[in-house]
Amino acid sequence: MNPKKDLLSLNELSAGELRAILSQARVFKQNRLAKERRIFADRTAVLIFEKPSLRTRITFETAVHELGGHAITLTSENVGIGKRESPEDIARNLERWVHLIVVRTFSHAMVEQLAKSSSVPVINALTDIHHPCQALAFALTLDERFGADSLKNIAFIGDGNNVCNSIALLCAKLGYRFTVACPPGYEPSPELWGHIRRIAADSGAVLTIVHDPKEAVAGAMAVYTDVWASMGQENEAAKRARDFAAFQVNADLLSCAPSDAVVSHCLPAHRGEEITSEVLDSKQSVAFDEAENRLHVQKAVIDHLVS
Ligand code: CP
Ligand code: NVA
Repeated sequence: MNPKKDLLSLNELSAGELRAILSQARVFKQNRLAKERRIFADRTAVLIFEKPSLRTRITFETAVHELGGHAITLTSENVGIGKRESPEDIARNLERWVHLIVVRTFSHAMVEQLAKSSSVPVINALTDIHHPCQALAFALTLDERFGADSLKNIAFIGDGNNVCNSIALLCAKLGYRFTVACPPGYEPSPELWGHIRRIAADSGAVLTIVHDPKEAVAGAMAVYTDVWASMGQENEAAKRARDFAAFQVNADLLSCAPSDAVVSHCLPAHRGEEITSEVLDSKQSVAFDEAENRLHVQKAVIDHLVS
């Protein structure tokens, strides 16, 4: 029997597996409701959300349903990972009933513990450190725009957060150019960045951190941004709004990028803060295409893990 696979971060995927998942996602997208694609028939997934969600919850529930399975969603008052029950005991219960665990919580270590104790695959639906499904949806969106074989040049403007980390890992694996522009003090963690740079050394990816957003977007084919205060950082929102004021993705910043550059955001967006409505609603924006692609890449991730 093959060893059980998880998707806790993009660390678990080789460049070849990443490309295969993106290619399978395109197949799922082209044949959205095809019966032969019901690879999760008569199986059950549990989705645990300890933070709010619109996109992730709906796309995972829909993905499981369209693959022939059944999804049960639980929120923190039902589960309480590490509070009501240890991650190990939660895993040892769930593996007796279900075939897949999807989990969104704060601590990445908690998801790692859960996965270690579970004999069924675990997918990270966002932790404080990683959001792998978002990076995959962005990659699919870029492939659709620029072709799957082209080398991408991506600028991330804002906080060195979970979404930034996952896109950095994606770029490191696929040999892309990735530039983060953030205020001093908001860089991705040096430990994780060191790890990502070691991957980049093998793939030929070029990863840079700068503090000038205009420098980051010059030459970029895609400009990405995310909220300045992530879920769990609400009490830092006022300070962050001051610290990130010069890091808004707006028409002035985009005038420094190539005219055919696309713009994306994982959503939900705080319009008028990290991105203007003018840009988010413009022809250059692919944020809603990326939101749609969450569904298709997550089907391909489930296929990769359970087939
Ligand atoms: N982008 C994303 O993960 O959205 P939700 O928080 O709504 O799931
Ligand atoms: N960085 C954001 C992403 C939301 C999808 C957060 O963690 O809140």
